[in-house]
Amino acid sequence: MRVIIKDNAVDISAWVAGYIAYSIKRAKPTAKKPFVLGLPTGSTPLGVYKELIKLYQNKKVSFEHVVTFNMDEYIGLSPEDKNSYHYFMHENFFNYININPKNIHILDGQTKDYAKECEDYENAIKAYGGIDLMLGGIGTDGHIAFNEPFSSLTSRTRIKTLAPSTIKDNSRFFDNDISKVPTQALTIGIGTIMDAKEVIIMATGENKAEAIHQAIEGNINHLWPVTVLQMHRYGIIACDKAAAKKLAPPTIDYFQNIEKMGG
Ligand code: PGA
Repeated sequence: MRVIIKDNAVDISAWVAGYIAYSIKRAKPTAKKPFVLGLPTGSTPLGVYKELIKLYQNKKVSFEHVVTFNMDEYIGLSPEDKNSYHYFMHENFFNYININPKNIHILDGQTKDYAKECEDYENAIKAYGGIDLMLGGIGTDGHIAFNEPFSSLTSRTRIKTLAPSTIKDNSRFFDNDISKVPTQALTIGIGTIMDAKEVIIMATGENKAEAIHQAIEGNINHLWPVTVLQMHRYGIIACDKAAAKKLAPPTIDYFQNIEKMGG
């Protein structure tokens, strides 16, 4: 595992955006062999999307041959609903870059057939040869995508009921009214995330400090789904100092030294 710690959210967002742009360029994607990027929603990636838009505007990266798969979507919300992840992604990212709309994949939360929608999503990822780079946030309870505590660590795309802590955390987008937050979502599984060739889990702010401590210093356990990243060959935790607050000083020293020495 690589752990990148920067002073604040702006700096870690710039690092993650730079890493994504570098990965896309390194792959030299074409129409036949596009770069496949897994993407999250939420507050954490907003700075990354802003930075990627800037990089695109400055001609440092192109999304012409990039295919995206979002991690999750609420059940019951239409793409036009301001709280849907369809809306979020277009409003905060896709509308400002040169991505082909056909290359955008987001689970349909309004589907009548959840099982088929989820199976089709897994098959679509497979048809592209898998996800090259998956970016994800982390819940205060350690969830990744909407894989709440006690999710199977080998789960695939499916319907999940949200944990009360997630509903409370996300109520800030729904007028702070927990009764307005959908209680279920379609989400890629932990197995789906682990199949990506590379995974970056990003966290900012002190409210993520316990989850980051568990992710790096805890034991692999379905109580903290993010701990599964310890089993990934190319897993990166990218966080700011506030989110790293509960890490033991020797842990921080170890990872900072490794980065100074060139990784
Ligand atoms: P946040 O959500 O970025 O809004 O904190 C992260 C998550 O729930 O995965």
